[in-house]
Order: sequence, then C-alpha cells, then structure tokens
Amino acid sequence: MKKSTVRNRIRIVTGINIILLIILVICGCFYFRSNNLDNSNLYDNDKVYDNENAEAVPGTDDETVDTPGGQESGTDSGQKAEDTEPDKELTESEELSLYSDLPYFISENSERYINYKKQHLDYSYEKVITYVNIGLDYDFYENVKSIENGHDITVLVNKYNKLPDNFEPELVQVDPSMCAPGVGPQYLRKEAYDAFVKMHQDAKQLGLNITAYGTYRSIETQHWIWNNAVNSGRTIEDVDSLNARGGHSEHHTGLAVDVIKNNYSVEETKEFEWYRENAHKYGFIIRYPKDMESITGYKYEPWHLRYVGPEIAAEVYESGITYDEYYVRVLEPEMRAENQTP
Ligand code: DAL
Ligand code: ZN
Repeated sequence: MKKSTVRNRIRIVTGINIILLIILVICGCFYFRSNNLDNSNLYDNDKVYDNENAEAVPGTDDETVDTPGGQESGTDSGQKAEDTEPDKELTESEELSLYSDLPYFISENSERYINYKKQHLDYSYEKVITYVNIGLDYDFYENVKSIENGHDITVLVNKYNKLPDNFEPELVQVDPSMCAPGVGPQYLRKEAYDAFVKMHQDAKQLGLNITAYGTYRSIETQHWIWNNAVNSGRTIEDVDSLNARGGHSEHHTGLAVDVIKNNYSVEETKEFEWYRENAHKYGFIIRYPKDMESITGYKYEPWHLRYVGPEIAAEVYESGITYDEYYVRVLEPEMRAENQTP
C-alpha cells in the first residue's frame, strides 16, 4: 500500500475516534445533568411540616424543606439563604426573619416564635410559627381571646378562642326521624342542617343510618356538663380532654353534630366506615382526630363532626392536619389579607 494511502487512513480513523470521544463527552454531560435534576426534584418534594399524615396544605409553601441555614429551598427567600455566608451563625431573629414571607407569619408574635423554638429545637420553623399562632406556647385556657366572627361558618372555637357569653346562633330543629332514639329535640344552624340531611339521605340509600345524637348546646348547658363531670369525681385534666368548658364548645355554634352515639363503639359501625371517607363531601370534618390531643386539646372523637363547608372540609381531609392548624395557616392569612384590601 502506498505511504500516502496509509496516512490518509490513519487520519480518517483518528478523526472518527475524536468525533466518538466528543459524542461520549456530550452524552456524559447530559447524563450527569439529568441525574442532578432528578435529585433536586426529590429535594423539592420533601415536606417540611412533619405531622405524620400531613400532606401539603393548599395555598401554603408546604412543598419545601429545611436547609442547614434554616431556609427552605425552592422559594424566593431561598436566594437569601444562598447569599448568607455558610459558616456564619445566624442570630435567632435573623434565622426567624428568613420565614417572614410565610403567609401565616405574624411579626407581633416574633418573640413568642423565638422562645417556643428554643423549647422545641427539633421543630421546624413552620411548625413553631403554626403552633404559636394557635396559642400552644400557652397552656390550654390561658391567653384566651374572645371570638368576633362567631357567626362565620369557618369560626375557630377551641381552648384559646371563646364565644361571647351572649352568643346565640339562629337554629332549625332537626327532623326527629334523623335523630338517635331518645335524645329529645335537636337543633343545628340551617347550613349544617341542610348538609346533614343530604348526608343522612345519601347514607340511607346505602343502607346506613347516620343520626344526630347531640347538636346545639347553650353555654349554660355546656357549663353544667363540665361542672357535673368534675363533680362526679373525675380529674379536671380528664374532663378537659373530653368536654369543653362553657363558651369553648363547637356545639355552642350550632355547627357541630355528634353522630349515632358519643362513644368509641361508633368506630365499629358501617356508618363510621362510610362517613370517615365521605363526610367532607357534605362539608363536615372529624374535628378531633386521633393522636392530635396536643394540638386540639381533646382526645380522639370519631363521632364529633363539624360543619365548615365542602371546599374547606375537603382541604382539611386531604391535608390530614387539624382544623386548628388549617385555620391559622390558611384561613387566618386570607382574612388578614381581605381586611387589608382598601
Ligand atoms: N366534646 C367536645 C370537645 C365538646 O365538649 O365540645
Ligand atoms: Zn361533640
């Protein structure tokens, strides 16, 4: 073979090798980049708010994670964390200020957030802010506020929020055919009643019997129930875990209904199996869920349904958080924003 032909062949083979190498490098780069993107998606999908069953709460920044700098990723303020020198220790208020963009951050509560965080170092800031907004940095029945929106369907009544003594909702009587045997006349607010009737009727089509066992209670009745329970020899702590004090009961709003019977045998009924998964479609939530006593102040009450309207009930049901948390994280910020609109 001529020398020039051999040289040409060597050049062609070398050229092909170089092209293959370039292709290999480009593919490598793409592979590396896409792997990195997959990881960052995983990171974004982590949940910062760590109630075991909680899913993202609509309208909040739940789909974020805590970073060592104390800032969540994937938000505008994440930029602030990057700008912060990595090994410079932030003061407590600097760290807290990284969360000031959260819709439920209340600047007047800053000192309380800082103090509560010190007592609960393992809690995320989102949790600290939520819990302080509920009032959980105080003992139950301490730092009680008087409720101003008692007639709102969404009103939050709990151990930190008391209905005025003269509060009286407008009520309608529940048809006796939909009441549990022997419970006497029952009353609900019209909105809750209409939803209850619909739920009762739909359940009936399935051969289920969802009845009203306990509904509206006046403040006097509630005081009487609580005092009577204490006078029967039970400890105040035990009574408080099941019975609201006067002015603090949802039954006083006319929006709560204990269904079938108020004891745990309710859980064994086909009715419970059905309403646990369907009550929200009618606007009801199971207001005192299992293992949430430290937030709601009450033991699990599978029988106690609270009307909040179908949209909110669905969001609470999907999110798996308590109504107390949902209220301070979603509803209260919305109300504040509305009040600020000129
Ligand atoms: N059992 C509920 C908490 C009430 O007394 O209102
Ligand atoms: Zn109840």
